[in-house]
Amino acid sequence: MRVLVTGGAGFIGSFLTERLVEMGFDVVVIDNLSSGGDLNRLKDVIDRVRFIKDDLKSPSNPGAFQGVDTVFHLAANPEVRVSVTEPRIHFDENVLVTFNVLELSRKYGGVKTVVYASSSTVYGDAKTIPTPEDHPIQPISVYGAAKAAGEVMCGTYARLYGINCVILRYANIVGPRLRHGVVYDLLMKLKKNPEELEVLGDGTQEKSYLYITDTISATLMAWEYAVKNGGIYTYNIGNWDSISVRDIVSIVIRASGFNPRINYKPATPDGRGGWPGDVKRMLLSIDKIVREVGWRPSMSSREAIELTAKSLVKEIGVRDDEGISP
Ligand SMILES: NC(=O)c1ccc[n+]([C@@H]2O[C@H](COP(=O)([O-])OP(=O)(O)OC[C@H]3O[C@@H](n4cnc5c(N)ncnc54)[C@H](O)[C@@H]3O)[C@@H](O)[C@H]2O)c1
Repeated sequence: MRVLVTGGAGFIGSFLTERLVEMGFDVVVIDNLSSGGDLNRLKDVIDRVRFIKDDLKSPSNPGAFQGVDTVFHLAANPEVRVSVTEPRIHFDENVLVTFNVLELSRKYGGVKTVVYASSSTVYGDAKTIPTPEDHPIQPISVYGAAKAAGEVMCGTYARLYGINCVILRYANIVGPRLRHGVVYDLLMKLKKNPEELEVLGDGTQEKSYLYITDTISATLMAWEYAVKNGGIYTYNIGNWDSISVRDIVSIVIRASGFNPRINYKPATPDGRGGWPGDVKRMLLSIDKIVREVGWRPSMSSREAIELTAKSLVKEIGVRDDEGISP
């Protein structure tokens, strides 16, 4: 069976691509190697996938969708903060790209299933925590709004053209090869200046983190469930627990081996958040995917952060004495 991964040279996409190759699928990857995309992530499988460098904002290779059974649509700009200052980038990379992927799936491919990488940010500052899938969608960032728009578009294409659709609202996903988000940002700051660490927000923000291997198993199990049963599904993919930024800072500092002064820098009117659009408390209810699909996470938010910090210290060469190339 042929499957297509958009954003397959990204963090999550590269792990998904590797797993799909291992499972014996014929995998096509489309990525424009922008916003964090890096072909090195696919080095172990590059001779076993069909890699197409293309910008899905203006796709030039519709033939890539021919014969594809499932599209895993991960291509996006994942930087929530960028969406606050550069909303247009997020409209183009997240809304327009999703529309183009759906159109290509319909017109050229006869695609049967679309799996869409959405985000916990669609809920905004949720009133119910843990937040279930039927909670109102009230994003507070343009990134979250763009993801929500993509969800509506995927669902509409599914109803209109008889495609199966799986919307996955990921919590914060962490692991090796990550090049954005709080763990990466803190380590990059320490690499530049081991004496002082600026932390965005007052450190009380509390969010849920999921390790990449758990994320891939959830993604594949939800996909298999949708293929077997047909229809449109929305699942939160996260963890049972959450962790505060203060605790993440301690873990990251320990992993780095440095002893910096910590400088908290709140930047929202309530004096807590790190940037406008920052959701301060995020914990998704994962009851639905556990109940329907039978998936459950294998490690906690804390364990996921600890493993990630250890890997990234080496990968990005935080310490001169033990760095590997970035
Ligand atoms: N990492 C997380 O914590 C997280 C959480 C929630 C949702 N998500 C979503 O999951 C998906 C993957 O995230 P990630 O962390 O792997 O991000 P990433 O930046 O590592 O990967 C995104 C990939 O998409 C590619 N891309 C971007 N614009 C493109 C375009 N116009 N044409 C072709 N390729 C393009 C990039 O080059 C990159 O390889 C994204 O949709 C993101 O919004 C991620």
